Amino acid sequence: MSSLKGKKILLGVCGSIAAYKSAFLIRLLVKEGATVKVIMTNEAGKFISPLSLSTLSKNPVLSELTTADDSLWNNHVELGLWADLFSIAPATANTIAKFANGYCDNLLTAVYLSARCPVFISPAMDEDMWAHAATKRNIQLLKQNGNIVLNVSHGELASGLVGEGRMMEPDEIISQITNHFNTSQSLKGKKILITAGPTYEAIDPVRFIGNHSSGKMGYALAEACIKQGADVTLISGPVNIPVPYNLKKFVSIITAEQLFTATTKAFTNSDITLMAAAVADYKPQQTAVNKIKKKETEFNIALVKTKDILSELGKKKKKNQLLIGFALETENETVNAKEKLKAKNLDFIVLNSLRDEGAGFGTDTNKVTIIDNGGKKKELPMKMKSEIAHDIIHFIISKIHA
Ligand code: CTP
Repeated sequence: MSSLKGKKILLGVCGSIAAYKSAFLIRLLVKEGATVKVIMTNEAGKFISPLSLSTLSKNPVLSELTTADDSLWNNHVELGLWADLFSIAPATANTIAKFANGYCDNLLTAVYLSARCPVFISPAMDEDMWAHAATKRNIQLLKQNGNIVLNVSHGELASGLVGEGRMMEPDEIISQITNHFNTSQSLKGKKILITAGPTYEAIDPVRFIGNHSSGKMGYALAEACIKQGADVTLISGPVNIPVPYNLKKFVSIITAEQLFTATTKAFTNSDITLMAAAVADYKPQQTAVNKIKKKETEFNIALVKTKDILSELGKKKKKNQLLIGFALETENETVNAKEKLKAKNLDFIVLNSLRDEGAGFGTDTNKVTIIDNGGKKKELPMKMKSEIAHDIIHFIISKIHA
């Protein structure tokens, strides 16, 4: 059966060179069984003809709030209520700015403001526009307002530059839309605790011992669990990414000790705990009150061990709780990960190796192997962290139902 059978999809098309891809997107949506209606901005009409899009969608394409002779009003509220999903592809920097700030100066923006369905936004623009602080702020606002902003890809841009800003390919957009309708809310009612990011251990008021963790994996896991209907508590070290929308609780920590306190408190009530934080293993024995001056040619800092939070949770774990750890290794990966799994009393461990290109700190991709407490291994290929998060969550769901 076609996966979008019976679904009503409203497609917004803006004035971007990527507008030609909307023709492919409509074709794929129709092929999947969806009913498609299209709204174009006037600028979009300069890039692709309304006739092409109306022919493919088998519906008239709308652009104006009224008809050409002003005799009829295109009811934006009705369109917004009609749709099961509103996809704006391509979404230009201009339309994104209008959506983020509530402008209502054409049919597309009016429908956006009256839509009650999930909104998927596929940005398309030049690299510098994508990197601009104003665009970043607008994207952040869109996410905070509950829109789903799809990733842009890296590649050749209309400007002749190569960089970030290309619209996601139509087949990928289709799989995101299909995933959205297929999510079964399998974690509804489950309380999930996730830790993410690094910890900082102060040497003096200026310096600290930290690590390169970006928090991306933990945040992606939080997003994936929210999508499945879970009540997510995210405890995070200092990172540079927006707090996911729809969290149950967010706790910000800096040190391993603070993470220990917050995590042990939240653990009691958690059904599933994912310990993705990169916890410092050692901290300075003493933190200097004042900035340490560079008087000596050599300087040593005495370090003491921090608490192993995951081990502590492993000791407290009850039968109905699942505990998942992460292992970042640079050698003897599987052996080390299996040892951690056993020593910390985990249900499974997610291993990634810094030896794999594209895996580890700061990257948007990762390559992981999931090992369960029965010794079974599931190796995943290199994927976006958001997709890895999805796979890990599905592994958990299969474990719950096993
Ligand atoms: N972890 C923890 N508390 C610590 C150190 C690690 O809870 N003080 C958790 C991490 O969040 C991760 C798992 O333990 O889920 C494994 O972390 P990792 O740094 O790979 O291993 P360590 O146990 O620290 O051992 P080593 O540094 O010797 O590899």
